[in-house]
Amino acid sequence: MSLVKDLPRLAEEAVTVSGWIASVRVHARVAFVVLRDGTGVVQGVVVKSAVSEDTWALVTSLTQESCVAVGGVVREDARAPGGYELTVSDVEIVGASDEYPIQPKEHGVEFLLDHRHLWLRSSQQRAGLKVRAEVEQAIHDFLYERDFVRIDTPILTGAIGESAGTLFETDYFGERAFLAQTGQLYVESACPAFRKVYCFGPTFRAEKSKTRRHLTEFWMVEPEVAFADSNDNMTLQEAFVCYMVERALERCGPELEVLGRDRSRLESVVAPFPRISYCEAVERLNAEGREFEWGRDLGAVEETLISDWFDRPVFVYNYPKEAKAFYMKENPDDPRTVLCNDLLAPDGAGEIIGGSQREDDHDRLLARIREEGLPEDAYTWYLDLRKFGTFPHSGFGLGVERTVGWITGRPHIRELVPFPRLINRLTP
Ligand code: 4AD
Ligand code: MG
Repeated sequence: MSLVKDLPRLAEEAVTVSGWIASVRVHARVAFVVLRDGTGVVQGVVVKSAVSEDTWALVTSLTQESCVAVGGVVREDARAPGGYELTVSDVEIVGASDEYPIQPKEHGVEFLLDHRHLWLRSSQQRAGLKVRAEVEQAIHDFLYERDFVRIDTPILTGAIGESAGTLFETDYFGERAFLAQTGQLYVESACPAFRKVYCFGPTFRAEKSKTRRHLTEFWMVEPEVAFADSNDNMTLQEAFVCYMVERALERCGPELEVLGRDRSRLESVVAPFPRISYCEAVERLNAEGREFEWGRDLGAVEETLISDWFDRPVFVYNYPKEAKAFYMKENPDDPRTVLCNDLLAPDGAGEIIGGSQREDDHDRLLARIREEGLPEDAYTWYLDLRKFGTFPHSGFGLGVERTVGWITGRPHIRELVPFPRLINRLTP
């Protein structure tokens, strides 16, 4: 069996290719069968006079998404998509497909999401998920090349990682357990063991918001570095993001083209990224007539306004304490704020990274846990890190779907995860 991606090297050879029927066009004397095998797409040409009656009958009855094995000879042909095609001599049905639900016409998005298990085969969905896979590989390569040790963190936890508002709770043999909102507290614990660590996995937030940027289950990579301060943290983030974008440009050219992504918007993504403090951002928003009260977290509208000031991703740093999570280190120069940053991507993609220097003082951290009304008992082990050799450290979380959504230019991140979990969707 040959793969479509190898056909350019097999000109004039007889091959068999197995895959799924993307489309069939039958004319009086010739039929065109477009076959997709997961490595590429090839057009098969069936000449009625050159095949048996049975083969012609079978070809004319082929249906969309039937799985077939096609035998034929590879021909170079400048007019064919990809520069080559298959002169078909025989066809065998592997698995028939009757009345495939997704037709080459406009379908509503709910219909497509209901058929996500089939929708995955469509060209734009394939392209988006291919870019996702490449970005995920780039994430691991970047961190591996820089001596980060991957730490797999638990999904079932007793400690609230971010905030009490968006928890999925479950009964754990009589105890309260939550699905992890983050692996951060656990990677922090692994820092003294390995210095540079990261986790990569699904995280869960019972977000009541139905927006194009929120999933209830999303994937996050969370690096954590001992002895890094907030500035070092941003420098690492910018190198990380540039690496991913470069990788997508280098290896996902055909996919970005299928998605109609303007490459120049990605080519301008080079370090350093602009850095603007929360205070400066609020001043500028107000100066531009967008009234915004100091102390609130930035919303999607403000994020888009801010990112439109720049041609590449922008760091907004040092947010007010009350807008951010309990574990962030107080800013010694302005104790109303914490040493943290969000990274806002261009083109309306919004926040793709949230990061911070961590509170490394035991008593301050305990006070923050109490202020937030978090269950103190669940954090005994986390507080231990500040008792037994505490150390300055920083880290961040990058949301995979939001990042891939931005790189591919897709408006809704639900298309960048194979099986999206949304407020109203658990199937398929
Ligand atoms: O800003 P967040 O909440 O930060 C954390 O979870 C930290 N514990 C990370 C760390 O410092 N180790 O989330 C990080 C990123 C966001 O910037 C966003 O990209 C993504 O996770 N994210 C979501 N993506 C999709 N759907 C949601 N509901 C998301 N919530 C956060
Ligand atoms: Mg955030």
